Amino acid sequence: MMQVKIDDLSLAYEDHGNGIPILLIHGYPLNRQIWRAQAQGLRKSARLISLDLRGHGESESKAGNLPETSAYTMDLLAEDCLKLLDAIHVSQPVILCGLSMGGYISFAFYRKYPERVAGLILAATRASADTPEGKAKRDQAVDLAQTHGVKRIADNMLPIMLSPKTYDSQPELVKRVKAIMQSTSLDGVIGDLLGMKERPDSTPILSQIDKPTLILYGEDDQIIPLTEMEVMQASIPGSNLVIVPDTGHLLNMEQPQAFNQAVQDYLETL
Ligand code: MLT
Repeated sequence: MMQVKIDDLSLAYEDHGNGIPILLIHGYPLNRQIWRAQAQGLRKSARLISLDLRGHGESESKAGNLPETSAYTMDLLAEDCLKLLDAIHVSQPVILCGLSMGGYISFAFYRKYPERVAGLILAATRASADTPEGKAKRDQAVDLAQTHGVKRIADNMLPIMLSPKTYDSQPELVKRVKAIMQSTSLDGVIGDLLGMKERPDSTPILSQIDKPTLILYGEDDQIIPLTEMEVMQASIPGSNLVIVPDTGHLLNMEQPQAFNQAVQDYLETL
């Protein structure tokens, strides 16, 4: 693990392998440890850079410039990603690989810094903004986090993060995901929830995306409906949708070989 100072904030990251850089952006409420199988399995084909977003894993949560419990907007998190790349002197365009909230951040990054993007891998994510019901659920989750803590959030989310089959048959993975979620700071959980709640609709930019795009989805995802992926595939020119069987939302952890193979095939088309 390495640390880099972004303004007044210390961010943790890892950097493995050689080749075209892929920035791996985790979802909520997770950290870079979800990408272990990608860092191992793809390092002969690409340079895998994974970070802990602010407030997650081993990164600090206070921005200094942010008051307590304020939103980590997708723009702010995308800026952190850019600053990390600058700090480690990655100036060539990168492939953004975002899972779920990591995908929302990838859209923000693409909107702000298209010249720094070589391609997109969008996993278990969506372009649309939160619905009014979705926003209300974010507020309920913020309340729950404030009154009962991050552990309760992690307990509630665990069964829907994985497919029911994974949940029953891979106790070690269940334990790992739980530990990852529980390690997220309260500031990170609340910051993410408020940031996701106010994220803009990215659907209007889909048809303008002119970078090679791979869309990945776990067949048993309980968080993102398939229709969201189909909208992205139909709107992003030339994009490819791969549906991975026997996995839920955390497809890169539940089915790492199938995930890595799809990325490998995508890299070969570049
Ligand atoms: C994630 O996995 O990043 C989140 O569940 C996405 C969301 O809540 O919209």
